Amino acid sequence: MKPENVVLSDDGKSVVIIDQTRLPNRVEHLTLNSPEHFYDAIRELKVRGAPAIGICAGMGLYVLANLSGADDEDSFLEEMRRNASYLDSSRPTAVNLKHALDRVAQAALSQRGKGTGAMLEAMRNECISIQKEDMFICKAISEYGLTLVNDGDGVLTHCNAGPLATSCYGTGLGTLLLGKERGYTFRVYTDETRPLMQGARLTAYELNKAGIDVTLICDNMASIVMKQGRINACFVGCDRVAANGDTANKIGTSGVAVLAKHYGIPFYVFCPSSTIDFNCKSGAEIVIEEREPEEIKTNFFEEPIAPAAVKCYNPAFDVTDAELITAIVTEKGICRYPYTESLKICKAGGYHAV
Ligand code: MRU
Repeated sequence: MKPENVVLSDDGKSVVIIDQTRLPNRVEHLTLNSPEHFYDAIRELKVRGAPAIGICAGMGLYVLANLSGADDEDSFLEEMRRNASYLDSSRPTAVNLKHALDRVAQAALSQRGKGTGAMLEAMRNECISIQKEDMFICKAISEYGLTLVNDGDGVLTHCNAGPLATSCYGTGLGTLLLGKERGYTFRVYTDETRPLMQGARLTAYELNKAGIDVTLICDNMASIVMKQGRINACFVGCDRVAANGDTANKIGTSGVAVLAKHYGIPFYVFCPSSTIDFNCKSGAEIVIEEREPEEIKTNFFEEPIAPAAVKCYNPAFDVTDAELITAIVTEKGICRYPYTESLKICKAGGYHAV
């Protein structure tokens, strides 16, 4: 299986992405080959989802270096640093963006003294590795996820953490897609995920394409489907996990977790272990992206849905408190509360408790 959402061209001079803002009605591809192309594609969510923006930015850093006119190492590295910091400033919340940029930059630095050709080769290998690793990681996460569900379960999802947001399978949706391949039947309820509708446009699209029973609900219907007994578990991805297990994900996620707690439904977070950020002690230290008010008032509507003078507050993410999370599922195993301990073991290389 090859990822289709983010593809490095054979000559290493561009990255082709599926424009996620056009889905589900149009599958359109965009070719990125300038700093502004990469920045705008990430900023405008043409490529989105924490792992996918890391993969795209890492490839972008390589492509820009490949197109660079700099022939001596110092100016090559100087330009690379400028591009890395520009791309990193496109979105603040997902740790994967900086993580991938650091890895590709580090690959270049490791070849210091061997010339820009060697640096480029190392950058290319590194960004390809990041994508390949993500494929392996998503599959491993999905295998662990399957130990948490039963055939026939009802699952609630928020936002999109499927193949479009990663490389294949996804994190939050991986269990459902892998389970489908293995003959499981799930009934999935997907929150539309205001204001940018990733649940309606992307999760419903991916699950429907895979032949999984998916029902779209408005975000404010999560409570009723839980109360009616339709939901056995909630599955979400995430953008950053603090050292204490507080977890940042798409706005509205923490509300789902509060409801799940109220109704006694397990709430699972799925992510690569690289999403765990020990530099953030708790969720209070995670920077929450704030986006333009127009996304609430005008996007997807023929006319504005509120008077022009009315202010909008549009945080793109929220933090779910660690106590509300039943487990954090990574490629290294299933971490449980108290996360301060289990996340450390996981990050250090092995956590297989279930
Ligand atoms: O603003 P988005 O669409 O990039 O937000 C994405 C999410 O919140 C996802 O749940 C998260 O990045 C995990 S993707 C595997």
